[in-house]
Amino acid sequence: MRIKRPAYLFFNLEDRSFVDIAKFLRGELKTFATISLQAFLGSTGTAQPITLDELRILAEAPADRWIDAGELISRLGLEPTAIDDLTARGLLLSDAGDPQRTFFRRQDERLAANQWHPIAALQFFAAADSSRYLDPALVQDLLPEESRERFAAFIAKHGLPPPAFYALESSEARYSLPAGDGDGELYDLLLARRTCRRFEQSAALPLAPVATLLRYAFGCHGTSELADGLTVLKRTSPSGGSMHPIEIFPLLLHVDSLPTGVYHYNAEHHALDLLRRLEPDEARRTAAALAGGQSYVGTAHAVFLLVARFLRNQWKYRRIARTHNVILMDAAHLSQTFYLLAAKLELGAFFSAAIDVAKAEELLSFNSAEMGAVGMCGCGIPRFDEAGATLERRPFVPRSGG
Ligand SMILES: Cc1cc2nc3c(=O)[nH]c(=O)nc-3n(C[C@H](O)[C@H](O)[C@H](O)COP(=O)(O)O)c2cc1C
Repeated sequence: MRIKRPAYLFFNLEDRSFVDIAKFLRGELKTFATISLQAFLGSTGTAQPITLDELRILAEAPADRWIDAGELISRLGLEPTAIDDLTARGLLLSDAGDPQRTFFRRQDERLAANQWHPIAALQFFAAADSSRYLDPALVQDLLPEESRERFAAFIAKHGLPPPAFYALESSEARYSLPAGDGDGELYDLLLARRTCRRFEQSAALPLAPVATLLRYAFGCHGTSELADGLTVLKRTSPSGGSMHPIEIFPLLLHVDSLPTGVYHYNAEHHALDLLRRLEPDEARRTAAALAGGQSYVGTAHAVFLLVARFLRNQWKYRRIARTHNVILMDAAHLSQTFYLLAAKLELGAFFSAAIDVAKAEELLSFNSAEMGAVGMCGCGIPRFDEAGATLERRPFVPRSGG
């Protein structure tokens, strides 16, 4: 068997505290602290404790070439089971053919082939589980009263955040600005943009506004040839390096004249390619699950998964950690354009950053080292008959002068 160290592997020292079980059983609550060495696998984003002896073995295995496991075993005087254990946990890669070891090997190869920077890979995969981000105490689809109570409890525990308005402690001078000329439809749309989380359940959304959203938020409005074979698209949103790495996978939940299911928006032909039909209930459950369990998402008429083709950007900005940030910023720009169009079409819209990356991978049958879900836009016919459809806003006009 040949082995090597994964290229996407990190170590961290963590403080851990444990309950003293012996004392606990005698009715005393005592904890003791210890420092634990953790290994983070970039390809899964998961941490596992390792020993210093294991770390020493890993330090003897190169990441850039295969070596013979037997040779390492005899050189370090190891039990062969030590290597088996490390390869089963993905901390060493091996050329063995069993599914688990093959998975770890292929994931490491895929990350390298897709030009992932190690830190970016770790960040993306470690953040793939949105459940920690989605604090159930602060979910967004609460009614205002419930939300106030939850926030009050949160503030009692953590104190207040920094204030909404930031101001310099001292400045050389303050220059008051003219109010700004905000007349016209663009300004009206900017002011009308808002997040909506309640949707009309009795009516289907006509296809026409869905087509308009797709075309003007995610469609192609021009192409350029940067070199032979290197085409870049023009969209209504900007894109880092013009690479437009984000593909749109709509989930139509309640749209006129098209079957409920998962689609790919084919921008070249401005068409929806059906990937899989889903029963309406299944589609709703799937949409909510993709958004980390946010139930209102399943009540929308259509949701649009934003899926990055990482190599499209990472081909150009190779193994650079910031490239991943750029991809996420691309998603954010698309979302704002989507929101403005929805305002124009008088649809309710939302964006969710809480995404179950593994679920999206399973639904769309891709590998997240190559194509990964980074966000979700959604829309529908808004329902205004209940408090909480959108956040209440008091009008605000900036104060001029001091
Ligand atoms: C990066 C980002 C992530 C967001 N993630 C979520 C989310 O997971 N769930 C959700 O319901 N809303 C999400 N939102 C929407 C915000 O909650 C919403 O914009 C905010 O409450 C302000 O309301 P407004 O859009 O009406 O101004 C997200 C917005 C942004 C920009």
